[in-house]
Amino acid sequence: MKDLSAYKNAFSVIETPFYFYDTELLQRTVDEVSRASAKYGIDVHYAVKANVEERLLQIISAAGIGADAVSGNEVSRAVECGFPKNKVVFAGVGKTDKEIRQSLGIEAFNVESLQELEVIDSIAGAEGVMADVSLRINPGVDAHTHKFITTGLEANKFGLVPEEFQAAADLLGRLKNVRFTGLHFHVGSQITDIQEVFSQECARANEIAGFFESQGLKMEHIDLGGGLGVDYLTPDQNPVPDFELWFRTLSENMPRREGVRLFAEPGRSLVAQCGSLITKVLYIKKRTSKTFAVVDAGMNNLVRPALYGAYHRIDNICSQAPAEVYDIVGPVCESSDVWGTDRPLASCGRGDLLAIRSAGAYGSVMSSSYNLRDKAPAYFSDDFNI
Ligand code: LLP
Repeated sequence: MKDLSAYKNAFSVIETPFYFYDTELLQRTVDEVSRASAKYGIDVHYAVKANVEERLLQIISAAGIGADAVSGNEVSRAVECGFPKNKVVFAGVGKTDKEIRQSLGIEAFNVESLQELEVIDSIAGAEGVMADVSLRINPGVDAHTHKFITTGLEANKFGLVPEEFQAAADLLGRLKNVRFTGLHFHVGSQITDIQEVFSQECARANEIAGFFESQGLKMEHIDLGGGLGVDYLTPDQNPVPDFELWFRTLSENMPRREGVRLFAEPGRSLVAQCGSLITKVLYIKKRTSKTFAVVDAGMNNLVRPALYGAYHRIDNICSQAPAEVYDIVGPVCESSDVWGTDRPLASCGRGDLLAIRSAGAYGSVMSSSYNLRDKAPAYFSDDFNI
C-alpha cells in the first residue's frame, strides 16, 4: 500500500472526481480475512452490497470466499465475477418473484417472512426444483450504531420475530419444495463494541437455534451476518480491520453444534479502506468566520456524510504545507453537501487533489446522478506504474 501522494502526478491528468482502489491493500485484507476465518473455522461470504466493482469482486472470489447478495442483480453480478452460485446467499425483505426464480440454485435464500417462505416454495415447485432456505431472524439485539444501519431490533423491518418462530417451524415441516438449511442473523453495521454486541448476538442465536432444533429441524449453518466496523478516523493506522478479534469473539461465544458451519458476511470491513474518492479543489471562499474549500465531488458521488453524518478523513495529497482549517464542501445544491467542517488540511489552493478516505464501502454503490452530475469512474492501483 502506497501513500496516495505518490500518485499525485499520475492523478493530475485524470478527470476528477474518481474512485481509486488500492488492490494491493484489498489483497492484504482478503488474505487476512482468509487466515483468521480458517483459524476459527468460519466461512466468509462477502456482502456484495458494499462494492460491486468487477475487479474487486474478482480478487475476493479468487480467495474462495462466498457472496451475500440482497437483490437478484447482485446474485447475477456475484456469479459473473467468479463466485460459485452454490456459495451465494440472498437476503432481503422484498424479494420479487423474478428475483427468486432467477436465484434458484443458490446456497440459501435468507427468508424474511412467512409469506415469502410460501412464495419461494411455490416458485420452486413450479420450476420443479428444491430451494434451500434459511430463516432470517430478527434477534432483538442493539448494535449501538447509527439508527439507519441498525437492523436487529423489532422496530426494524428485517427478519422473523419470536412470535413467528413456531409458525415458521410448522410451515417448514409442511412445504415440499423448500429445504431448511439454517438461520441467518444480522444486527447492524459499523459495529465497534465488538465483544459486547457480538457476544449478545451469539447468545440470542444460540437460544433461537435451540428452539428450531427442538422442532426437529436440522441446521447446516448459522450465519452471523456482517457488521465489523472500520477505522474512519485514522485509516493509515488500521488499514486492515481486526478480523482476528471479530472471529475469535464469534467463535468463543457461539457454542458449536455438530455438522453446523458458522458463516460471517463482512461487507464494509473488506473494502472500505482500499477505496478513496479523489476530488479537486475548485475554489477557496474566505469569510471572516471560516474558509470554504469547494471541491468537485458531491454527495451524489458519496452520500454517507450527507445521509448518516458519517466522518471520512480527508487528505490533501498535493501539499505538505502547514495546516489550515476549512469547511470542505461539494458542488451539489443542498446544504448537506458537506464533506467536513472545521477540518485541518494542508493549506490548499485551486487545483489541489484531496483524497476522501475509507470510501471503498457504500460509496460508489450508493451514488446517484442527482443534479444530473456524472458518476465517478473507478481506477485501480495496479493500472499505475508507481
Ligand atoms: N449482511 C446483511 C444481511 C446486511 O444487511 C449487511 C449490511 C451486511 C451483511 C454487511 O454488513 P457490513 O459488514 O458492511 O457492516 N450504507 C450503510 C451501511 C448499510 C449496511 C446494510 N447491511 C453505510 O454506508 O454505512
